[in-house]
Amino acid sequence: VQSVPELLKQIEEALEALQFTGRQPVNLYEPIRYVLSLGGKRIRPLLTLLSYQAVTTEPVSRCMDTALAIELFHNFSLVHDDIMDNAETRRGAPALHVKWNQNTAILAGDALFAYTMGLMTRNFPERAAALIETYARIALEVCEGQMQDLDQSGQQQVTDLEYIEMIRKKTAVLLGGALRVGALAAGAPPDLCERVDALGQTLGIAFQIQDDVYDAFPPDESFGKKIGGDILENKNTLLRIIAGQRATPAQRQILDTWFARPEPSDEKVQHVLAVYRETGVQEYAHQQINNYSEQARLQVTELMAYPGYQIVWQLWQELMNRKS
Ligand code: IPE
Ligand code: IPE
Ligand code: MG
Ligand code: MG
Ligand code: MG
Repeated sequence: VQSVPELLKQIEEALEALQFTGRQPVNLYEPIRYVLSLGGKRIRPLLTLLSYQAVTTEPVSRCMDTALAIELFHNFSLVHDDIMDNAETRRGAPALHVKWNQNTAILAGDALFAYTMGLMTRNFPERAAALIETYARIALEVCEGQMQDLDQSGQQQVTDLEYIEMIRKKTAVLLGGALRVGALAAGAPPDLCERVDALGQTLGIAFQIQDDVYDAFPPDESFGKKIGGDILENKNTLLRIIAGQRATPAQRQILDTWFARPEPSDEKVQHVLAVYRETGVQEYAHQQINNYSEQARLQVTELMAYPGYQIVWQLWQELMNRKS
């Protein structure tokens, strides 16, 4: 069994080895190499490999291409997400559509997605149909979640249930899917695939709430995205929902006024952040993160027949103290 640092090293090496050698045109592959070289936490491919080695004694290297497919899909979704979110910075560097242009970003994203199709099943021809069926469902649900994200940005009153369903699809389904494809590739029975998927989705919901908190209250200066990006784009987040519920009439007036203005400005971020602070929404979000984490801890405990999944819990705890 390999440790998280060992697996991470292999993931980075495998990503670097993906040179798309001999492929043309350069204008398509250079942006792809760029986005893959910017780093990132590589959580999703890690989850896939951890899941694989929790189920089988086959060498984990056999699952690397499948894990890379998950990471490339994630990167594709980020490239398109940054266009949709008007986000100019990603992982502390210019977003792909800023460094090149929007058409290049659309195509680089599409090419990344296409490339994952071959990677996903390459080493598991005998399980290709099941893997592709799962992968197609994941990809479709991410699109559905991203559309719900856009829809909710224009809405005034979104319930927390609608918000949770939106982040489940746009983010949690891929974390659940990362664990599921690892198990599936290892030949796990259907009920185990279900259970690890559910575990990953619980983690994914907590992960997106954390991401929303960091967007407004970054953990440190090295945070790689623009502060208040969600506020500038009128994104629906747990912070916004709870602030709306807790606001006094005067605070509600501030929120309504600033969220009604489409133009981005530092002033908008400052006013909204002030209401977020006054209403204590960050503490509320942390309670929710803790609730989902506790649920995940129980889900891991129930997987005791597969002790390899304990590492997922350790990885999660380190991640929750992350700084990006
Ligand atoms: C960012 O994901 C998008 C979300 C789903 C919140 P990550 O925070 O995993 O991004 P990287 O890959 O580490 O940059
Ligand atoms: C990202 O949600 C979800 C997907 C990319 C599918 P966000 O829009 O919050 O992610 P960041 O904050 O840009 O990384
Ligand atoms: Mg975004
Ligand atoms: Mg987004
Ligand atoms: Mg975000």
